[in-house]
Amino acid sequence: MRLFLDTASVDEIRAAAKLGVISGVTTNPTLWAKAGGGNYRDIVVEICNIIDGPISAECLSRDVEGLVKEARQVASWHPNVAVKIPIDEAGLEATSRLSKEGIKVNMTLVFSPNQALLAAQAGATFVSPFVGRLDDVGHDGMQVVADTVQVFERYHLPNQVLAASLRHPLHVIAAAKVGAHIATMPYSVLMAMLRHPLTDVGIERFLADAKKAAKAARGTGKA
Ligand code: G3P
Repeated sequence: MRLFLDTASVDEIRAAAKLGVISGVTTNPTLWAKAGGGNYRDIVVEICNIIDGPISAECLSRDVEGLVKEARQVASWHPNVAVKIPIDEAGLEATSRLSKEGIKVNMTLVFSPNQALLAAQAGATFVSPFVGRLDDVGHDGMQVVADTVQVFERYHLPNQVLAASLRHPLHVIAAAKVGAHIATMPYSVLMAMLRHPLTDVGIERFLADAKKAAKAARGTGKA
């Protein structure tokens, strides 16, 4: 399973990129606003220059022609851009047309395996079930990821399941266990995956013991 960062903060993306574990980025208008706004195109291009992988950028038009026109524009920003389109009638029709042109679509705001199957048939490269938002309203978000993976595998569909709206490290590992192709997560979740108090204690202990051993070696003239 590949790990993407779910943020429009260039600082967070730079910090995560250094770790060498991030293969793509997903952005949306909410994350863009949270990161302080600015020119969306410039931010997306800057992200493309930091991470060499799929970078999702949201389209905001609400009708088919508008979506197709906007998506072509957004896709022209950089070869790694995937256009993010919410699933509805206009979104599906636009995705069918764009995928035939070779434009990568990340079909977003997916909340059921039925929607995911439709997104796949329309040719979306990435299909994004929103796990946390389903959990928020008392549904089992990860079950939608699991069912979608099962259906795609059953029919050998090439579309990739991108588990989104992940809120904590348990979501990430659950997405991996049910076979999601990609998990996208906030920077805070990536850091929470990394840290463990026993690792910190272990490092402290190794350093203290190394100091003790060096001191002892100096005492015996072996250092
Ligand atoms: O990847 C989608 C994500 O940005 C939505 O997350 O936490 O707003 O549901 P959240």
